[in-house]
Amino acid sequence: MPGRLYESTWGRLFAALYDRGLAATEEAGLRDRRRALLAGARGPTLEIGAGTGLNVPHYGPGISELVLTEPGEHMAARLREKPAAARADAVVAAPAERLPFPDARFETVVGTLVLCTIPDPAAALAEVARVLRPGGRLLFLEHVRSPEPRIARWQDRLMAPWRLIGDGCHCNRDTLAAITASPLEVEHVEDGTMPKAPAIVRPLIQGAAVRPAD
Ligand SMILES: C[S@@+](CC[C@H](N)C(=O)[O-])C[C@H]1O[C@@H](n2cnc3c(N)ncnc32)[C@H](O)[C@@H]1O
Repeated sequence: MPGRLYESTWGRLFAALYDRGLAATEEAGLRDRRRALLAGARGPTLEIGAGTGLNVPHYGPGISELVLTEPGEHMAARLREKPAAARADAVVAAPAERLPFPDARFETVVGTLVLCTIPDPAAALAEVARVLRPGGRLLFLEHVRSPEPRIARWQDRLMAPWRLIGDGCHCNRDTLAAITASPLEVEHVEDGTMPKAPAIVRPLIQGAAVRPAD
């Protein structure tokens, strides 16, 4: 396990390099995916693990409120200094496993490239379901475990070093299975690839899961 000093030093550097490190991937198509996903956001909207705020410019006129959560102090500092963050009604330092909001508070929850990093994705998805109104949606865009056994084996082998350099990211998670096992119902999902990314983080899923009516 990495020590606290490593985590805090690398966490600061990871946040500082995040936008630059992702720039070629965003340019080659990830930004378009974010925009397409967020076009579906409606009403009071919560984003979990918002990072440096790369989604914020892409929210459309369909949302009535935007609340961003980000538990990492270095990511949150980068997020708060961005002009786009002014668009948010609130930036809250909270992990997705313990969301400080009442039941059924939001119509949309957004999570992008985040269920790979959250320590307890099942707890986070239960919280997402709790804060969504019946009929409300989780919009997700996540890199996931490859359906190809050869790549999945490399994801398993490289998980530990990748987690160290990826600030807690697990490259081998079957996130669609986690969403399917949660109280949410997958409404639609499409497979894709993360352009200009290493093979172990290339497989993507993008879609929506709904909180069933009570
Ligand atoms: C790879 S970054 C993705 C950032 C952003 N969502 C994006 O699409 O660019 C992963 C993010 O998950 C955040 N994170 C880590 N643990 C978390 C938790 N327990 N709950 C919510 N977010 C968490 C990290 O601080 C980081 O901002």
